[in-house]
Amino acid sequence: MCGIVGYVGSGNAREIIIDGLKKLEYRGYDSAGIAVIQQGKILLRKHVGGIANLENLIGDDPMTSGTGIGHTRWATHGAPSDINAHPHLNGDGTIAVVHNGIIENYLELREMLAQEYGVKFRSETDSEVIAHLIGVYYTGDLEEAVYQAVGRMRGAYAISVIAADEPEKIVAVRKDAPLIAGLGKGANFIASDIPALLKYVKEIYLIENNETVVLTPDSVKIYDENRNQVHRDVFHVTWDADAAEKEGYDHFMLKEIYEQPKSLYETLTRRLNEDGTIKLDGISMGREELEQFGKIYIVACGTAYHAGLVGKYVIEKLAKLPVEVDVASEFRYRDPFVDDKTLFIAISQSGETLDTLAALREAKSKGARVLSIVNVVGSSVARESDDVFYTWAGPEIAVASTKAYTTQLMCLYLIGLYMGFVRGTITREFHDQFIADLKEIPDKLKAYLKQAGMIEGLSKMLYNKEQVFFIGRGLDSSVSYEGSLKLKEISYINSSAFAAGELKHGPIALIEPGTLVIALATQDALYEKMLSNIQEVKARGAHVMSVAKEGNTAIEAQSNEVMYIPSCRDELTPLLSVAPLQLFSYYVARERGCNIDKPKNLAKSVTVE
Ligand code: G6P
Repeated sequence: MCGIVGYVGSGNAREIIIDGLKKLEYRGYDSAGIAVIQQGKILLRKHVGGIANLENLIGDDPMTSGTGIGHTRWATHGAPSDINAHPHLNGDGTIAVVHNGIIENYLELREMLAQEYGVKFRSETDSEVIAHLIGVYYTGDLEEAVYQAVGRMRGAYAISVIAADEPEKIVAVRKDAPLIAGLGKGANFIASDIPALLKYVKEIYLIENNETVVLTPDSVKIYDENRNQVHRDVFHVTWDADAAEKEGYDHFMLKEIYEQPKSLYETLTRRLNEDGTIKLDGISMGREELEQFGKIYIVACGTAYHAGLVGKYVIEKLAKLPVEVDVASEFRYRDPFVDDKTLFIAISQSGETLDTLAALREAKSKGARVLSIVNVVGSSVARESDDVFYTWAGPEIAVASTKAYTTQLMCLYLIGLYMGFVRGTITREFHDQFIADLKEIPDKLKAYLKQAGMIEGLSKMLYNKEQVFFIGRGLDSSVSYEGSLKLKEISYINSSAFAAGELKHGPIALIEPGTLVIALATQDALYEKMLSNIQEVKARGAHVMSVAKEGNTAIEAQSNEVMYIPSCRDELTPLLSVAPLQLFSYYVARERGCNIDKPKNLAKSVTVE
């Protein structure tokens, strides 16, 4: 959370930084700011709200500097306000800092700075402490001052710093929060994530933990924590700038929903050998290793956790191994039983979610083998895992995750199938048929998405419901959780999901005439049981919108509306049944006038605990 962009070169730093911040708004958008060095002074502009507010504030002010840093904020310490927005300055305004993360000992540092140096603080943030700390150590050498300040800071952070007296330099540090450096010609860049820089550079350095980067227009030097210069291979970004643009769609979320058939196709076909078997590039696990695992944990947050719920079902069914799924923030603190016979699967779109990363480290320290399913290449989760299986979703910008979820599911199917095949728990015939069925999914989803108009119509009718329940059995219950999360994330409707069999044990007390219940009934084996559950809520006056497979029309008698998905084997329905739920959430949020790509209080990449 929070996005950082910095530029040093002969171009217009303000323009480049603002442009980059717009691409990073998914990381936080409650305030934004920029500081540039102009005629030996630091010029600061910051404003509560999105980047547009900052642009209005800057107005026609030329700010024609070649060096600057910018920030888009997701508040942790101190409410969103002009004062709490970054960059933060030291006392005499000669040092400016942008910060992503949390300084855990900021109160102690704040007290020390006030008592020993008489520092007066302007904001309530932990970040302002960094500017003052660097300020008191500064004697004309920014690297030295940053090094000393960092030595006193505890927490997880990425910072970028400029000093008025060194107008052609940015010093940045990474510790448990993402940071990349972009390599230009006569100009260099620093940012939290690749999309910020795609318009300008394709060659980047992935900065590692505890490294300091010193950027000037002509050089980017990386130092380890002992201040030794380190060599870093250049990482060539293969996607183009368009991948991070809306391309005519009203919102990134809608664009990303429509990209799912392509992303699924990519994620699948890149993993198939010519003989139809699965090639798990990035994973080096043969039969012997797979035989050794006694247990699998799948650990993730939010949408990725919901993908894990499906993964449990798939891996247990295909590979016959016990799987436990946990939210990362819980896993970490419950002292789970993990040993060297444990396979730990981390799922994360961004690869930077701190809870997931911390859980991964916990499992690794206890001897587990770590396999991650990640979208962002070179991200922290990817780098700290023993094996990485990348989703080929391409950049996902909307906060509400869609194509990352379905490609995570695709990876889990492939991993489950691979494990089952290698362990001999499924036959070759079953394996081949499963792959053939998987191959049909991208086209089926593409065909389904053409029915979006129908869902748009339903949303116009139902958008003003204030309470929604999602129910389902088996795999449908896992997808219900994801559907419910999507709706609450972007439309702010109070929605909850339940295993349909649990309804009668409590939640049914909440059903009243007109309550909207979205019932998923795509599992052939559980279809009749679901019809009974639907009847139970219908009898209490619920408005029931069902999701069923084409041809299963018996459900119509008990539903107000039915959204039919193309028929497929039961195990694969999540890849299709989530689509109507994504579209419904999208259109409902649009009807309600919500900020779809940037919902309130949320951020895409949550790098705080
Ligand atoms: C945040 C986002 C969720 C996302 C979760 C996990 O909470 O708002 O949409 O699912 O983080 O993100 P990750 O990048 O680890 O998949």
